[in-house]
Amino acid sequence: MAQKTIVISGASRGLGFCLAERLLQQDNIVHMIVRNKNEKTVNLSAHNPNCFIHIGDISSYKTLNPAIQTLKEKIKKIDVLYNVAAIFWPEDRKGILETNLDRAPEMFATNTCGPLRIIQKLADIITPETRIINISSESGSMENTLEKNLYAYSMSKAALNLATKIYWREKEGNCNIIVVDPGWMRTDMGGPTAHLDPYFSADSIIDLVDHWEKLEKHLAKGNLFFKYDGRLLPW
Ligand SMILES: NC(=O)c1ccc[n+]([C@@H]2O[C@H](COP(=O)([O-])OP(=O)(O)OC[C@H]3O[C@@H](n4cnc5c(N)ncnc54)[C@H](OP(=O)(O)O)[C@@H]3O)[C@@H](O)[C@H]2O)c1
Repeated sequence: MAQKTIVISGASRGLGFCLAERLLQQDNIVHMIVRNKNEKTVNLSAHNPNCFIHIGDISSYKTLNPAIQTLKEKIKKIDVLYNVAAIFWPEDRKGILETNLDRAPEMFATNTCGPLRIIQKLADIITPETRIINISSESGSMENTLEKNLYAYSMSKAALNLATKIYWREKEGNCNIIVVDPGWMRTDMGGPTAHLDPYFSADSIIDLVDHWEKLEKHLAKGNLFFKYDGRLLPW
C-alpha cells in the first residue's frame, strides 16, 4: 500500500499509541500530537525515522498552537487524521445529584472542541481526500447509550458526533469524515477489566479506514457513526 502521511492526537498512550505503532509498522509517516514526551513516544520516534512528535494540548488554541506550528513546518498534506485524545473521569460515574457540572466545560474543551480545533487549524492541509476519524464512544449515542450516569463524558461525545455531522453538512458531503467507537479497551481509560486489547481496536480501525469504499454508501446519506468493526451505529 502507498505510504501515507498520518496525524494522530493523543498518541502518548492507549489507543493513540497503538495506532501510531501499527501505522509505522506499515511504513507510513506518523505525526503524533502529545501533551508531553514520555519514554514510549521517545523510544518509538528514536527507532522510526518516519515518526515525529509534536507537543500540544488540544484543550485550547493557545496550548495546541505549538503542535500546529511544528506540524506545518513538516507537512503540506494529510492523508489520514485520527482525533483520538480525550479525557474521562471515573469519579464522574455519579448520579445527577452528585455530578459536578462546573467541571463539564473542561470535558467539552478537550473531547468535543479538541478534535474540531485540530481540523480548523489544519484546514489548509486537509483536502477532500483526507480521511478524518474522530474517536467517539457509544456512550454518546442517543439511542444506544447504556450509561445511567457519566453525564459530562457522554454529553461531550454526543456533541462530538453532532459536530462531525455538521462538518459533513458544511462540506456538503464533500469530505471523508467518520466517528468511531473503539469499543471497551484495556487502557488507562477503560481499565484492566475491559473487553478489548487496544491493539485489536487499532488494527480494526485501520482496516476500516483502509476499506473506506465499504463505508461510502452510509457516508453518502450522512450516516457517519461506526463501531470499530465497521457496524453502523445510530446517532
Ligand atoms: N478505553 C475505552 O474503553 C474507550 C471506550 C470508548 C471510547 N474511548 C475513546 O477512545 C479514545 C482513546 O481512549 P484511550 O482509552 O486510549 O484513553 P487513554 O488511555 O486515557 O489515553 C488518552 C490519550 O489522550 C491524551 N490526551 C488527553 N487530553 C489531552 C489533551 N488535552 N491534549 C492532548 N492529548 C490529550 C492523553 O495524553 P496524556 O498522556 O498527556 O494524558 C492520552 O494520550 C478516546 O477518545 C476515548 O474517549 C475509549
